[in-house]
Amino acid sequence: MLVRKASPARAVGVSSGNDRRRILLGVTGGIAAYRACELARLLVKSGKEVRVVMTEAATKFVAPLTFATLTGAPVAVDGFGPSAWKMEHIELGRWAELFVIAPATADVLAKLAGGEADELLSTTHLAFEGELLLAPAMNTAMWRHPAVVENCRRLSERGARFVGPREGELACGETGVGPMAEPSDILEEIESMLTAASGFEGRRVLVTAGPTVEYIDPVRYLSNPSTGLMGIELAREAARRGAEVCLVHGPLAGSGLPGGIPAEPVVSAQQMYEAVMRRIPKADVFIGAAAVSDFRPVRPSAEKLKKEGKRGLTLELERSPDILQAVGRARRPGQVVVGFALETGELLTEARKKLASKRADLIVANAVGAEGAPFGSSSHSILLVPARGEPARLPPQSKRRVAGAVLDRVKSLLDG
Ligand code: C5P
Repeated sequence: MLVRKASPARAVGVSSGNDRRRILLGVTGGIAAYRACELARLLVKSGKEVRVVMTEAATKFVAPLTFATLTGAPVAVDGFGPSAWKMEHIELGRWAELFVIAPATADVLAKLAGGEADELLSTTHLAFEGELLLAPAMNTAMWRHPAVVENCRRLSERGARFVGPREGELACGETGVGPMAEPSDILEEIESMLTAASGFEGRRVLVTAGPTVEYIDPVRYLSNPSTGLMGIELAREAARRGAEVCLVHGPLAGSGLPGGIPAEPVVSAQQMYEAVMRRIPKADVFIGAAAVSDFRPVRPSAEKLKKEGKRGLTLELERSPDILQAVGRARRPGQVVVGFALETGELLTEARKKLASKRADLIVANAVGAEGAPFGSSSHSILLVPARGEPARLPPQSKRRVAGAVLDRVKSLLDG
């Protein structure tokens, strides 16, 4: 049930056998590259093990030797150079705990957003499964360009964190938003990302996600538009904080499940119920983020239903198992149970009813909003309603941040 974390340092001439945090610094070709030297120095001074990967363009601004001297390690530049046989992109991607790209030019943002892999830095990005921090730096007009805005949105939806740009004087002489964040601010962000990623060591977290699908006949079914993103973010964030995670999920939309999350795929509510009940005895935390079908056809047809000779069709449905309620009823002392509520009515009242009926510790209540929100949307407004204590409203934010807020609550419930 363990999520794969960055493996211990090995190969690419990287020293191992110490407990220093492993930071990969990506430097791209903007004038702010010279400030990345300061960042490398600060990282080393704060006790981090630092490796640097540069784009060709970055080497026009700062020599690789500068970074090699500052970090005491060889700098990776050309994916097709003499050391290409070592597959540095894979090794660096595995080695690093955190990948910070500073400065991140408009060009690299586009490459990362598009999943390009035509040189070492962008290829390493694809091979890397940990946390990504981007410190963009560019001219104000470029930063505001819809293409750049769109690329940042895509990257942020995939979990990348951003620091800066700040407001200040640009290399072109203008003043505005665009200069790279101060190296000391980037270091602070890195420290916070490294420290936040703990608190769930030795804890087992079981999460449900996505829709369930209830077949009417071999080709038709009852379901809903849940993408599973909320549950995926919860599983990812719990794993990032050190938990052993398992995600039981229905059929997922889009690109499906990102790598590295131990998961059990299911189709129907019954299958989800059985998978959860099998795993729940070992779980410290259960989070029911799945949009489970409440009803299923009593007698699914083995043959495709024909319309010929029929004016209409009445389906007889029965209740499917309420997984959250079953978990709440069978819960053992110390286990934390979290449910979701998707409501068109009054959120707080409905959430409180659900706390009682499901015997949960916390309900994460979402309003059904415009354009089908929260399904598929990366950002929505939610209410956290605990069984004990005051409810808290979270402003619209990414599902990743919502996951963080939910897990902060879970952590305090676990700590009692
Ligand atoms: O009862 P309702 O569907 O409104 O409650 C929503 C919460 O209950 C969610 O956490 C959902 O994952 C969970 N649920 C469940 N099994 C069901 C229905 C809902 O686990 N059959």
